[in-house]
Amino acid sequence: MTQPSLDQYCVFGNPIAHSRSPFIHHAFAEQTSQNIDYQKRFVALDNFSKAVTEFINQEGKGANITVPFKEEALVLADELSERAALAGAVNTLTFKNGKIYGDNTDGEGLVQDLIRNKVTLAKSRILLLGAGGAAKGVLLPLLSQAPQSIAIANRTVSKAEGLCQHFNDERIYACSFKEVADKEFDLIINATSASLAGDLPAISHTVINNDVTCYDMVYAKDKTPFLKWAKKHGAASTIDGLGMLVGQAAVSFSIWRGVSPETLPVIDELRASFEKE
Ligand code: ATR
Repeated sequence: MTQPSLDQYCVFGNPIAHSRSPFIHHAFAEQTSQNIDYQKRFVALDNFSKAVTEFINQEGKGANITVPFKEEALVLADELSERAALAGAVNTLTFKNGKIYGDNTDGEGLVQDLIRNKVTLAKSRILLLGAGGAAKGVLLPLLSQAPQSIAIANRTVSKAEGLCQHFNDERIYACSFKEVADKEFDLIINATSASLAGDLPAISHTVINNDVTCYDMVYAKDKTPFLKWAKKHGAASTIDGLGMLVGQAAVSFSIWRGVSPETLPVIDELRASFEKE
């Protein structure tokens, strides 16, 4: 009997060695009985579009795109989803009917992880820390959950103001780190890259109380500095970005395969593998 051929997917990035995406997508494939193969591909900085063309010629069906190629992927796509166009970045490419479709599943991955953690988004007052690519990528999916407001606070306030103009939605406003001190929030999302450097955004602990949920888009074996700080000051719950990582992959998988995998078993497996490292 001949084996069914496997549909090919991959993640392009630089660096890419530590990507968990192959593990996650193979776990989804097993769970949903899909015949796919998923590999990581290191791409030289000046070789992204060539690498994508090569993969299409090898009958690749789709790809995830990670740092630093998300903006290049946006330019390469023939058609874009609204959320990718507004995010200004693409993390999911689909190759179909001779065309390249670009989408961005990061924000939806975040929203689904918040919902899985039973965080109420409708009518909530959200504080989004950071105004870089990560913040920009999640704003439209967050807005689609009907929050009351989203304050964007950034060290460089002009960048937060720029995001407000870009999204042009009366529920969004910009402020400085200092200005958040006397405001109340239900959910604080750290979309800065501070955690990656072991740093903490310089905001007052007065925003933390026992009703507020704190989410860090970064994940690590140990709690990030932001989540440690939030816990110390009595936050209701502290959640890291591992569920967002698996969540964005799940949305990509469902775009490609038409089935939505369960994220929790994969999150648990990944968490357990960190413990062993
Ligand atoms: P990303 O794609 O991860 O969003 P980015 O576009 O370079 O990366 O944006 C990084 C974000 O983290 C910015 O909002 C940056 O603030 P500035 O715009 O003021 O530079 C924020 N950031 C990085 N390190 C930080 C720190 N130690 N404290 C506070 N904000 C920090």
